[in-house]
Amino acid sequence: MKKNILKVMSMAVATVLAVTALSACGKKAEEEVNPDLPTLTMATNAEFKPFEYLEGSEIVGSDIDMAKAIAEYLGYNLEITNIDFDAALTGAATGKYDMAVAGITATDERRKSMNFSNNYFKASQSIIVTADSEIKGKDDLTGKVIACQEGTTGEQYLLDNEYEIQSFKTASEAVASLRAGKADAVIVDNAVAKALSAEQEGATVVLDEALTEEAYAIALQLGNDELTAKINEALEALEADGTLAKIFEKYDLVVD
Ligand code: ARG
Repeated sequence: MKKNILKVMSMAVATVLAVTALSACGKKAEEEVNPDLPTLTMATNAEFKPFEYLEGSEIVGSDIDMAKAIAEYLGYNLEITNIDFDAALTGAATGKYDMAVAGITATDERRKSMNFSNNYFKASQSIIVTADSEIKGKDDLTGKVIACQEGTTGEQYLLDNEYEIQSFKTASEAVASLRAGKADAVIVDNAVAKALSAEQEGATVVLDEALTEEAYAIALQLGNDELTAKINEALEALEADGTLAKIFEKYDLVVD
């Protein structure tokens, strides 16, 4: 009896190891792959809770659920690779990946080098400060050191306004810098600011001021109008049947 239990346990461990090993190379190991279907490749940066983040070795979040729903609607397998944010953008622009889904703001500048789907979510940049900070709004940011994630619209906002900035590979590192007293504020997308700040157990707050008006869209290679049109068709269908609303609700995302 005991022996059997042990055997079952070691099998379970072996399965977990297999899944972990596969996902270490960024592949979506836990999903069934249908050999009869073509594969849609997607790049993301799973450092952007609640849109995409890691739960153990699994990539989860609203963008991931949305991408899975799109792939299912269009009849594709979906293969997700987790890389740096700027690499995800470049990867979509160069066609290395079919698309990048990563809370990507569709900006005029980016439109010069990549296609975008229709917008699927509205966002803005928010300020995170320590709970005891004297910074109460954007007017207090002058002369301060502000941390952000590299290659993002948050970083661009800071550069455009000539702030002294610290850029990190992830927004969590930017928050760590704030907590360590090395930065005076963090600029990041509003829903992510809320999620990150909630993890700091009261040490930080998100200021009630929107610095920008942005909208997220899926990035594709410039000129890949065929796939862009298919993705738009999927997005419209998933919006119409309530799937998108359900996904946003699952992650406490407020749609306006
Ligand atoms: N919305 C911002 C941008 O497009 C930040 C996106 C960062 N996304 C991520 N998965 N890290 O630049």
